[in-house]
Amino acid sequence: MALQKYIRLDDALCAYVRDHRSDRTDPVWRDLREATIRLGAVAEMMIPEEEAALLSVLVGALRVRRAIEIGTFTGASGLAIARGLAEGGTLISLDKNEEWTRIAQDFWRRAGVADRIDFRLGAALASLESLAEEPIFDFAFVDADKTGYDSYYERLLPRMRTGGVLLFDNMLREGRVLESDLPDDPDTASIRRLNEKLREDSRIEGVLLPIADGIYFCRKR
Ligand SMILES: C[S@@+](CC[C@H](N)C(=O)[O-])C[C@H]1O[C@@H](n2cnc3c(N)ncnc32)[C@H](O)[C@@H]1O
Repeated sequence: MALQKYIRLDDALCAYVRDHRSDRTDPVWRDLREATIRLGAVAEMMIPEEEAALLSVLVGALRVRRAIEIGTFTGASGLAIARGLAEGGTLISLDKNEEWTRIAQDFWRRAGVADRIDFRLGAALASLESLAEEPIFDFAFVDADKTGYDSYYERLLPRMRTGGVLLFDNMLREGRVLESDLPDDPDTASIRRLNEKLREDSRIEGVLLPIADGIYFCRKR
């Protein structure tokens, strides 16, 4: 007997999930979402509400003081992480797009978390390589160009503390990771290679979570 211990989400169930989180009526989040939607098709890059809520809960539960994210966009994940940080905690947020990240910084100010976020404009790899030796991070969230994930991983992992948590977003690629031939989709091909690498990587303990578009959850051993 095959035990199917999962459920398929449809729109109604997904709306139900979204409606059952803390702070769901937060006006800053609502306005940030609306401002992002006004940008048009790129708005789909924003993380969904339940993922943002997970980031806040997780960062709070882990008592994170030093966090980093790659892929700021309009600031949703940064807002969620910053809100969960422990007293005195800081988030380094990296992105190369000036227009979108101006929106992020406006909303971070409005939410009262701007002083916890050190935003760095530029190509993420160069920003990572220019970081001082300190800090060692407790938490990292990677949500930028998919072909860059593995390079970000190799640069971030040595900078994570033992037991630190590193999350990769979009690791299911809306299900395309199952396609065997991906000549026209280098992003998904890269993500598939990284999923395989993480599964075998003894430097971390990891699990691929079917939340939002798939989150690979890694803990540094
Ligand atoms: C999926 S969005 C991030 C969404 C964001 N985490 C959120 O919560 O809404 C991806 C972001 O990565 C940025 N990006 C893509 N390639 C990059 C690179 N090489 N260096 C820095 N940022 C990059 C894009 O400008 C975009 O804002």
